[in-house]
Formats: sequence, C-alpha cells, structure tokens
Amino acid sequence: MMAPPPLGLIAELTHRCPLSCPYCSNPLELERASTELDTETWRRVLDQASAIGILQIHFTGGEPLVRRDLPELVRHASALGLYTNIITSGVTLDDRAMAALTSAGVDHIQLSFQDSDAAGNDMIGDSRGAFAKKQAAAARIRQAGLPLTVNFVVHRENVARVPQMIDMAEALHAERTEIAHVQYYGWGLVNRAALLPTRAQLEAATEAVEAARLRLAGRMVIDYVVPDYHAARPKACMGGWAQRFINISPSGRAMPCHAAETLPGFVFPSVRETTLSDIWHKADAFLRFRGTAWMREPCRSCDRREIDWGGCRCQAFALLGDLTATDPACELSPDHGVMQAAVRESGPGAYVFRRIEKARVT
Ligand code: SF4
Ligand code: FES
Repeated sequence: MMAPPPLGLIAELTHRCPLSCPYCSNPLELERASTELDTETWRRVLDQASAIGILQIHFTGGEPLVRRDLPELVRHASALGLYTNIITSGVTLDDRAMAALTSAGVDHIQLSFQDSDAAGNDMIGDSRGAFAKKQAAAARIRQAGLPLTVNFVVHRENVARVPQMIDMAEALHAERTEIAHVQYYGWGLVNRAALLPTRAQLEAATEAVEAARLRLAGRMVIDYVVPDYHAARPKACMGGWAQRFINISPSGRAMPCHAAETLPGFVFPSVRETTLSDIWHKADAFLRFRGTAWMREPCRSCDRREIDWGGCRCQAFALLGDLTATDPACELSPDHGVMQAAVRESGPGAYVFRRIEKARVT
C-alpha cells in the first residue's frame, strides 16, 4: 500500500546563522553557502511538494532570513496553496524583511528566544544585542497582524526562568509559546553534560508550565517538550520515521529527520536528481524504518509500537552505536541505564559554541 503523503516539508535553506547556540540541532559538519540549493531548485521542490499532497512548508535553517530569496520562496509556496511557516532567530527581521515577507503571504512566524533574561539570551547565542532585536522582531510580527509563536529552548542554566519566559510571551501577545528542553543531537549532544537539567529542575519547570496553562487557558497555548533523559518512554521522533515529514538539507539531501546524516549505511537522495515522490515512496532511506517491520524486541511485541514507533533512530545510534535498537529513552530498553548515567555525569561546565570552523568537534 502507498504511504500517505507527508504532512510537512522542512526546508533547511541554509546552515548560516548569526547565532552560535551550543545546542543547535544542525549537524557538526555544517554545510557552506556555496553548496546551498539555488532559488530555481527550491521552487521546483515546492512544486513537487504541492503535487504530492504536502500541506505545510517550514522554512528553517540555520537562519532562513539570511537567504535573500526567502520572500520569493514564500510567495511561490503561497501561490501553490501551501501553508508557510518561518522559524527564525529574529535578529535580522527588520522592517524591510518583515514587509517583504508579509507581502509574500507568509502565514506564520515562529520566533526563538534563548532566555527571558537579556544577558542570558545574548550569552547563549553568543551574540550581543540579540535580545533587543528579537523583542523588536516580535513587535513587528504582531504589527503585521501575523500569529506569533515564541519559542524558548531551556536547559540547566535557564530552566529556573520558565515562569518569566511565559510571562514574556504573554506580554508579547504570542498566541502560542513553546518551552522546549534541549534535544540532545548535534551540538546539543556535544554539550550535553553542561546543558542537562536535574530532575528537580525538570519537575519545577513542568509544574510552572502546568500552572500557566491553567491561568492562560483560552488566551495562549503552551507547548512543552521534555528531555528524553528523565523520561520513561521515548517520543515518537518526527511522528515516526518517514511518516509525517521530509527534511531537506541546504545542499538538497532529503532525509526523514534533521539528524539522519549521522546514521551509517544510508544514501540520502538529492532533490537535485530525484523527485519528492520517488524519495517518499521508493528511497531506501525512507522505507528502512517506516512502520514496525524493522523492530526487534522489546518494541516488536509492545503495545506502544505504533504510538512512539520505537523512539528515535538517531538517538539509538548516537548512544548505543546500534540504529535498530530500542531508543534507550525507553525504560523497557536493556540500555536505559545510559540515560541515567548521563544525568549523573552532568553538571555546570563550559560550552562548545556552534561554529563552522569548529565543525569537527569529536
Ligand atoms: Fe516504545 Fe519500543 Fe519502548 Fe514499546 S519498547 S514503549 S515501542 S520504545
Ligand atoms: Fe533522527 Fe530522531 S532525530 S530519528
């Protein structure tokens, strides 16, 4: 039976970014500007996305606003009837950029903050003045009449300020705020020891979110993403491998998730040569872990196998060296102890900030 079409296409337009967050989900081997797809190829990809039934395009990076053709791509996607979302740090979202995106028909902007505290924000992004620019960007988004989602990434150093983050989102008139604990891939995994919160910190943050959800019911939605390391069951990563999303890297490699290039033994097709339809329906990289046939015990006979789909393949490989293993975030995994060991070994420390020239951190 043919797989249903993906819901969304994640267009990583570039790995270039004015910030240097030490939990960036981009790969350690960042792709350079010279390898990026050109406008014409992205337009073709958008045409193909519409043709196979994709509904949403998420323009992201890196920082998608560093691509001058972003408004043109948004316009093209809008004309095809696709819902367009831009995920941005906001530091380059000036009046001109905002006007260009609004006239191109952008539907939604998701603005990331690194903290509710200006100094903390600018420190973790390694970019002085970024906080003030983000505040101005939030005001521009609202003035343009667009829905605003404010996103905070939380970790050991800022997690105590979750209540202030929610207050800030409310003051910015966000429709939605996302409080997302760092996910430990890419640069986040490199900096895991310094970023992982303690269980007590996590519980306090969870209580703060639950209290705010009650207080703000009907006014602001709060999404909350917890770290796997204190969990008993894994998340359904990407909604299941190759079930809901296609992720395209800046150079055009199509993958079921942003971290899939870390997995050995795969050839990821390029949108330069292969259509999205062939990628989704025929490429080995997409078929290999779609569904449940690939699973071993304990997933194979587990009643959650079509809920979390065995968790995250990239995490299983990164932590266990076995991409077909049950995600060790699951308590039923014989390797669950690696998560608890990582928590025990965590504590305050220096960060390795994301840099292209530091792309070979091991
Ligand atoms: Fe999910 Fe596998 Fe754990 Fe069951 S055993 S909860 S399917 S990861
Ligand atoms: Fe790749 Fe989870 S990040 S499957």
